[in-house]
Amino acid sequence: MPMFSLAYRSRNLIEGMFPDSLGEMQKLLDVSRARNAGLGVTGALIFNEGVFAQILEGDEAAVREIFKSIEKDPRHTGIVVLPSQTYDDRRFEKWSMAFVGPSKRASDYYERFSLINGFEWTRASAGALLEIVLDLVENENSAGTNPKLN
Ligand SMILES: Cc1cc2nc3c(=O)[nH]c(=O)nc-3n(C[C@H](O)[C@H](O)[C@H](O)COP(=O)(O)O)c2cc1C
Repeated sequence: MPMFSLAYRSRNLIEGMFPDSLGEMQKLLDVSRARNAGLGVTGALIFNEGVFAQILEGDEAAVREIFKSIEKDPRHTGIVVLPSQTYDDRRFEKWSMAFVGPSKRASDYYERFSLINGFEWTRASAGALLEIVLDLVENENSAGTNPKLN
């Protein structure tokens, strides 16, 4: 089955909104993992320097249903969606929602691709973002169930 993939970036508002921002982040991940698993959606969320980038993959209707909730979520703002992609096989098959928080490896990528100051959201960049996130998930996802905010 072709995988529909949706990627976006946004600005994290959790730290300003919740005194227990780590706890809130953990709650967000718990809810996301349960709902994604139920809908056969997989993906990854990366967070660094106040910026989220997320990739969701699965059946198009399921991904869009989840994204409808994400779009309305007050815990982030300034969502910029990349052109969607379709590919043959799931890339994040092991993760209902992998999570990678701040790390040296992530910071280098964020800097290189100007994720902080404005990623160039072209179709080519959607592929580049996918490769970045896959690399981070493979190397840094040991913290997967345990968000580190800084
Ligand atoms: C950055 C970010 C990423 C999120 N990722 C997901 C996700 O992958 N799956 C999911 O079900 N909810 C995700 N959520 C939470 C949804 O916005 C929403 O709270 C949740 O799905 C419950 O849906 P409901 O509010 O419509 O009941 C995310 C929220 C934020 C702020």
